[in-house]
Amino acid sequence: MKNLKRLLVCCFTLWIGMTVLSAQSLESIEPGKKWLDTKGEHINAHGGGVLFYEGKYYWYGENRPERGFTTKVGVEVYSSTDLMNWTDEGVALAVSEENGHDIERGCIMERPKVVYNDKTKKFVMLFHLELKGKGYAAARVGFAVSDTPTGPFRFIRSLRPNAGQWPKDFSEKDIKKAKKLNPSDYKEWWTPQWRKAVNTGLLLARDVPGGQMSRDMTVYVDDDGKAYHIYSAEENLTLNIAELTDDYLDYTGDFIRIAPGGHNEAPTIFKRNGMYWMITSGCTGWDPNEARMFTSSSIWGPWEQLPSPFVGEHSEKTFYSQGTYILKVHGTEDTFIFMADRWYPRSLKNSRYVWLPISFKEDGTPEIRWHDSWSLK
Ligand code: DGJ
Repeated sequence: MKNLKRLLVCCFTLWIGMTVLSAQSLESIEPGKKWLDTKGEHINAHGGGVLFYEGKYYWYGENRPERGFTTKVGVEVYSSTDLMNWTDEGVALAVSEENGHDIERGCIMERPKVVYNDKTKKFVMLFHLELKGKGYAAARVGFAVSDTPTGPFRFIRSLRPNAGQWPKDFSEKDIKKAKKLNPSDYKEWWTPQWRKAVNTGLLLARDVPGGQMSRDMTVYVDDDGKAYHIYSAEENLTLNIAELTDDYLDYTGDFIRIAPGGHNEAPTIFKRNGMYWMITSGCTGWDPNEARMFTSSSIWGPWEQLPSPFVGEHSEKTFYSQGTYILKVHGTEDTFIFMADRWYPRSLKNSRYVWLPISFKEDGTPEIRWHDSWSLK
């Protein structure tokens, strides 16, 4: 009886201790460490992005299972006022239980980004979608919409962007040249001839009728309210920047290609002092690689490639992470956070987050250094 009493007291003390610990508020961001939400659970919002709306930040990301690579739940959303302490607000966009539905449980939903449309007063989510049972072959973008930041979002449709359209900087002559190329003539990749053909539009032209492939992605809303979907197209070889319609639910048909054949994934973007900066990764699956950086004074380019902005030990592996979003901290002019994932493919749910502040050299070039712990205060 005494022992039972002792056991009960022990359990009670442990439970109180755990509750106090999990309720403890965080005072800093510790990149790469387990990041607990306000209930004490590791945050499950991978490949995510953050939206600021009416005094709160909303972090949307992939709810990943303990094991496996497909989506069982959907897109999770967390809220915070200080970017350190996050409350789980539940599933913003749930998978469908309907057989054959585009977002049927078992599909792959990656890299969701939510933006607020000031004209329609709607929250619009775009995400990379792979159809159930088709691996990464579908290469589509999904659209969903909600009246509130926490959802539930309503799935609208999925597609491949800009069917029937050519890049806005392609002349009639460029189109003619691209149309003449035939993928079956270039079976071997990475040869000089293949590179030239990709540059000229080998895969672009192949995909014009059905729309461009769309995998890793982000969405950027510019100062004038225009939104752009930036995604890896052409078998992940070429990035596209595509303008969205005023309601952010479709494409205007204007798009450009960046770094054809450059093999860029994980696009992230921000604007500072009139210059756009894009940080991307190479394509090595879940393994980290060296980041790349591009800059331009116009969203429509020309985009110039610069060396990786990461500095210091392990910078050649982007500190063992891959970017997902760049957040401009609300109310600041110059505070930007590079948000990245440290993927654990054996248990994607347990993948870690690497959030780091971006600093700037005298000439305005971004730099990202490692911090074990940092805060915005
Ligand atoms: C790298 C991408 O950036 C991730 O979002 C995911 O698609 C993995 N590849 C899958 O291998």
